Amino acid sequence: VGMLGGAGLGIAGCGAEVAGQLLRSRARLPEPFTAPLPIPDVARPVGPGRYEVTQRVAAAEILPGLRTEVWGYGGTFPGPTFELRRGEPVTVAVRNELPVPTSTHLHGGVTPPGSDGYPTDLVVPAGAPPHPAHPGEVHHPLVKEYRYPVGQRAATLWYHDHRMDFTAPQVWRGLAGMALVRDEEEDALPLPRGERELPLMICDRAFEEDGSFRYPRAHRSGHGEHGGRGRLDGDYMEGVEGDVILVNGAPWPVAEVTATRYRLRLLNASNARRYLLRLAPGGRFTQIGSDSGLLAAPVTHDAIPISPGERYDVVVDFSGYPVGTAVTLVNALADGPAGNVMGFVVTRRAPDDSAVPAVLSRPPGRPRPVATRRFDFRATDGAWTINGHRYRPGVPLARPRVGTAEVWRLTGDFRHPVHVHLAHFQVLARNGRPPAATDAGWKDTVDVGPYEVVDVLARFDGHRGTYMLHCHNLEHEDMAMMADFEVI
Ligand code: C2O
Ligand code: CU
Repeated sequence: VGMLGGAGLGIAGCGAEVAGQLLRSRARLPEPFTAPLPIPDVARPVGPGRYEVTQRVAAAEILPGLRTEVWGYGGTFPGPTFELRRGEPVTVAVRNELPVPTSTHLHGGVTPPGSDGYPTDLVVPAGAPPHPAHPGEVHHPLVKEYRYPVGQRAATLWYHDHRMDFTAPQVWRGLAGMALVRDEEEDALPLPRGERELPLMICDRAFEEDGSFRYPRAHRSGHGEHGGRGRLDGDYMEGVEGDVILVNGAPWPVAEVTATRYRLRLLNASNARRYLLRLAPGGRFTQIGSDSGLLAAPVTHDAIPISPGERYDVVVDFSGYPVGTAVTLVNALADGPAGNVMGFVVTRRAPDDSAVPAVLSRPPGRPRPVATRRFDFRATDGAWTINGHRYRPGVPLARPRVGTAEVWRLTGDFRHPVHVHLAHFQVLARNGRPPAATDAGWKDTVDVGPYEVVDVLARFDGHRGTYMLHCHNLEHEDMAMMADFEVI
């Protein structure tokens, strides 16, 4: 602990693998592939297009026989999965019964600015003293209604806390869930569905001996509890990695599958850990969608690198394995227990009328860019900065015009998974060369390696107003690696 890299360091053939620092659990850890894979409940509307969800403290049994306090949407970790349909707007009333303020961001959503989870647009719990910690901070007492137009294509989205300076510790405690947008284009495809479509939220955690989540202690912070900008113990400035891999909140779970195709909605909801997912003993992923929706055509991969915030929508065909095979989803970037993610056991043959068609969708084409801008992600004076600035709410670094597209050149000194709110983008080039096969499609998060130059073409559609771009290593984000841009 405290040394660079931990589980992420020094993997042959992957170049300089720099990641967060490993925090080891003090609890006794379970054998992998014993816990059944949980599937989060689907959120139920309370009326047409209306949902109510309460963020609250709850107890979960994550490690066998131990109790973990979680902060969950609906009191669960992960929170409920929202099933949304293009063209059907929804309102979600988020009620905060936690001891801390929150802000909820629908990651990948094309959302008006007032509902986008701006870090100082806070839902504050009952009885909280009215002491804004930042200029321009807005307090909604107890409840805020978030409005989502859901005008976008079918895609794998997720939602999580986005509170200024405290996103990392609050997401670590459980404030995250998935949201799936569906549409007619997707309905018409013969993809695996029902029990053969699995949302898989992958994240790492560490545990104290009593089963509670372990997270580095903050140095004294002006605003109180758990971390805070630039105040996390300096050993963890690079980000926090746990030694237990959870999928849908269970440690190294196992799912029984038939020898058929399955659609896996892979989400990396970790604070800082990056994965290189592979199937053991061999097998391939057929990627059908990226962060922002279906690809035009499927792409096959032996391995999928997934950085915090990214999603990969893939099909795995388990008919290629003999019945009885134990198939493991592994992380080739880690040794030891963190090198396992989850297991599948192929239980029996079964009929399969699913298919992955050669043409999946007609995504929007690439518009001609009207401007080029550069965003440099770098450590400056003990904080993580963009273009030399710590996050300054209300001071936009760029003012793109609505309805246009721009080339954004992303660079940095370390590994930074860069996320842009509102705007979807395509990766044009890495170091002036064509992007990787796993960069295909429209995205909202892209991994920028140390000293790498990544050019993306971003579209500013749908809404005007103030949004953010930031590093999705959540410790970097809290340590100020965020900036506003204003769509005008
Ligand atoms: Cu998933 Cu601004 O974040
Ligand atoms: Cu970063």
